Amino acid sequence: MTLLVALGSGDPDPWVKQFRALLPDRPIVKLGDSYDPASIEFAMTWYHPPGSLAHYPHLKAVFSMGAGVDHLFRDTELPDVAIARVVDPDLTNRMSEYVILHALSIMRQTRRYREQQNHLQWIDDDWQPAASEVRVGVMGLGVLGSDAAQKLKHIGFKVAGWSRSPKSIDGIQCFSGDAGLSSFLARTDILVVLLPLTDETRGIINRKLLKGLARDGRVAAPSLINAGRGNLQIETELLECLDDDTLHEAVLDVFQTEPLPETSPLWTHPRVTITPHNASVSDPVAIANAIAAQIKRVEKSEPLLNTVSRAKGY
Ligand code: NAP
Ligand code: GLV
Repeated sequence: MTLLVALGSGDPDPWVKQFRALLPDRPIVKLGDSYDPASIEFAMTWYHPPGSLAHYPHLKAVFSMGAGVDHLFRDTELPDVAIARVVDPDLTNRMSEYVILHALSIMRQTRRYREQQNHLQWIDDDWQPAASEVRVGVMGLGVLGSDAAQKLKHIGFKVAGWSRSPKSIDGIQCFSGDAGLSSFLARTDILVVLLPLTDETRGIINRKLLKGLARDGRVAAPSLINAGRGNLQIETELLECLDDDTLHEAVLDVFQTEPLPETSPLWTHPRVTITPHNASVSDPVAIANAIAAQIKRVEKSEPLLNTVSRAKGY
């Protein structure tokens, strides 16, 4: 078997090196190398150039390099083979670190104290809510969302989650579907978005949704943390909501266009925190290991884990 590393962005070499160490008997190639198309049985991709997987007659499976798979479905010539995505504790823990960091930072008003420090201002105030007084709502209760929700709960936040199908998670108030959305929003002070990008979720973070968030909380106004995908949000509406205080603060790891263009007003907005789509990075050491294990499963005729539904888009 040959594994093709098909990256549309980023450096493939650390991945090739890692796969060669883990699968020493199998050829590992990357896009642009010279190889026999008939030899390719597996491909690992991240934003591969559309059409670049179309001509491998013996391709058995495509692995996303990350948890998200929307980048695969951009390719209208994606071969009709099994698709698997990454589920790995390394990726999950990194995302929960990001969510906890920013939920605490919003609650403890890090932005306000930084501003006061910049102006050498010591303002006596004992207005500090406890986590138990702050309601976090996690949109997407999958692998990442449910881990973040449980860890936020452990810190003391009041946590709820929203998913497509009904869920039951100890200590988390679970809402689902269109019917559950408005009640979920109405009890949420800090909205964490860990949804996949699909036809159903595109543009879901819009003015109407943000207006539905809680207005009776211990924090100034509701805030948003989006580490799902940029096209879940409508950035013009998000900016309007920040400007008219429908939204107090936004922490964004993902954007409608990446890299975020220099002309985007998000860069300079005083209540926006920007990170460059690295809330949870795929580390070649951890993730190549998970993908190599999947390849070994196929070779032993065991079923692939963490497969993706083309119909649902995630
Ligand atoms: P997952 O396990 O597939 O979970 C997805 C969750 O979203 C599920 O709970 C699912 O509901 C819910 N969902 C999907 N469509 C929905 C809809 N229309 N309405 C309501 N809920 C819906 O995915 P994951 O591993 O947690 O990853 C989530 C996303 O995080 C990825 O797709 C990716 O875009 C993003 N991500 C970002 C980074 C980063 O660095 N920024 C890193 C990794 C991943 P059900 O449970 O009912 O199916
Ligand atoms: C990163 O964005 C991922 O989907 O893993």
